[in-house]
Amino acid sequence: MKDIIDELEQRRAEARLGGGKKRIEAQHKRGKLTARERIELLLDEDSFEELDMYVEHRCTDFGMEKQKIPGDGVVTGWGTINGRVVYLFAKDFTVFGGSLSGAHAEKINKVQGMAVRNRAPIIGLFDAGGARIQEGVDALGGYGEVFWRNVHASGVVPQISVIMGPCAGGDVYSPAMTDFIFMVKDTSYMFVTGPDVVKTVTNEEVTAEELGGASVHTTKSSIADGAYENDVEALLQIRRLMDFLPSSNISGVPVLPTRDRADREELSLDTLIPDNPNQPYDIKELIHKVADEGDFFEIQEAFARNIVTGFGRIEGQTVGFVANQPMVLAGVLDSDASRKGARFVRFCDCFEIPIVTFVDVPGFLPGTAQEYGGLIKHGAKLLYAYAEATVPKVTVITRKAYGGAYVVMAAKHIHADINYAWPSAEIAVMGPKGAAEIIYRSELGDEKKIAKRIQEYEDRFANPFIAAERGYIDEVIQPRNTRKRVARALKMLASKEVELPWKKHGNLPL
Ligand code: HXC
Repeated sequence: MKDIIDELEQRRAEARLGGGKKRIEAQHKRGKLTARERIELLLDEDSFEELDMYVEHRCTDFGMEKQKIPGDGVVTGWGTINGRVVYLFAKDFTVFGGSLSGAHAEKINKVQGMAVRNRAPIIGLFDAGGARIQEGVDALGGYGEVFWRNVHASGVVPQISVIMGPCAGGDVYSPAMTDFIFMVKDTSYMFVTGPDVVKTVTNEEVTAEELGGASVHTTKSSIADGAYENDVEALLQIRRLMDFLPSSNISGVPVLPTRDRADREELSLDTLIPDNPNQPYDIKELIHKVADEGDFFEIQEAFARNIVTGFGRIEGQTVGFVANQPMVLAGVLDSDASRKGARFVRFCDCFEIPIVTFVDVPGFLPGTAQEYGGLIKHGAKLLYAYAEATVPKVTVITRKAYGGAYVVMAAKHIHADINYAWPSAEIAVMGPKGAAEIIYRSELGDEKKIAKRIQEYEDRFANPFIAAERGYIDEVIQPRNTRKRVARALKMLASKEVELPWKKHGNLPL
């Protein structure tokens, strides 16, 4: 018996060594941890249960039958994060560059299936060179099986991808279908085809970082939802994010104990809005002051900064915050902001996370660049997402709510549940100046007359009361009481139920 137990330990030790000491050293020299070191940091201590440690590839071409490494380039299993179960797979770059073979794909498929059946999130840690080149179609088929499972897990369990090294070819499409992608600065990059292929096909010369580094994907392409300085920071932040997320679409949001009283007043909010309506202020201050203990996990912080999205908690329960940001482009909605907001709203709706929306929006951004870029369809995405969402929706208008953007930003008319406004709210078709110049076009040139007209429009519409008189605003609230009012509204909406006509699925304006 002892011999068999010794053999087991030996086989385990061999598998744990992955591609060997030399490759592990090379991994460390690049500032990267190994797959198993990453798992250790991500999960609660001693909670990892590894699966399929002895799986090997079945390839017999190119001398591969002589190169078999147990585990075959991916470490899979489950464990806990702050006591809650998660499934995971971590690509092991030290084994064939983490590339995907048929057997490697089957390991991922197994945990994908378990995550869906047992209703817990799945996290993928990526550090890999794409399809196992020696395997050909078996690798391609393996990717297809991973992708299919990604699609069918979507909206059932949260799927998170962390890019911690190269991520090329087939490896990019699985993350692209997950809910969130995070990257590590300087050591990770994502692209469909690398710099060499780019040079051959388009004659462009770019580095891997310029083509698909964290800065590109968090600021330009919006592929990534955040980037961190190193592996350790990334994994610790993922632990923090997981505390906000439900385990599945039927589990309900996690509840964390909090000492922050729901009726906490924030006097400073009474002076958040500057006297000059064109002066910006930081909407994140409002989010921080409303959320439990000011804890806010921002999603896509560096992209389309004119809208802010992220998770916080109220009375210990997760909510999604969406807010126009007056500090950037005056908080206007453009194509990027609309797409960003829409994707976040849909995530919240899939997973029954209530949405709190703070509105200060001067409208949609005019101009040929926006119109040629499909502003109508991108704006419609946000409108569609809010209108489709059946989770509790609480909206607070702090200042401007102009035109179509007023309707889009979770107005009563698209069935938000509770709509509040601060006394500083201005709900109108457009700003007073623009409005007066159109209605009184014949008086243009007479500055005195136009100034009077602007003042008239302002007096009539630059307040929340006309909307409140019609019931479009449920109540005009004191800014200082925003947390209390939102918390009460969410409590009242906790058992909200909506029945809609059956359909296979809607046709989101993609
Ligand atoms: C097999 C691979 C591999 C791959 C890397 N390796 N990629 N083995 N298949 N796809 C192996 C290398 O042979 C090497 O083995 C080890 O991994 C480390 O690779 P290096 O090149 O030494 O590392 P580095 O210089 O850091 O470069 C990393 C890399 C590069 C940028 C990822 O290896 C690379 O470009 N790989 C190929 C990427 C690619 O084109 N993949 C196929 C994409 S097509 P040793 O034994 O020396 O340690 C695709 C289609 C799928 O994925 C479509 C699905 C729909």
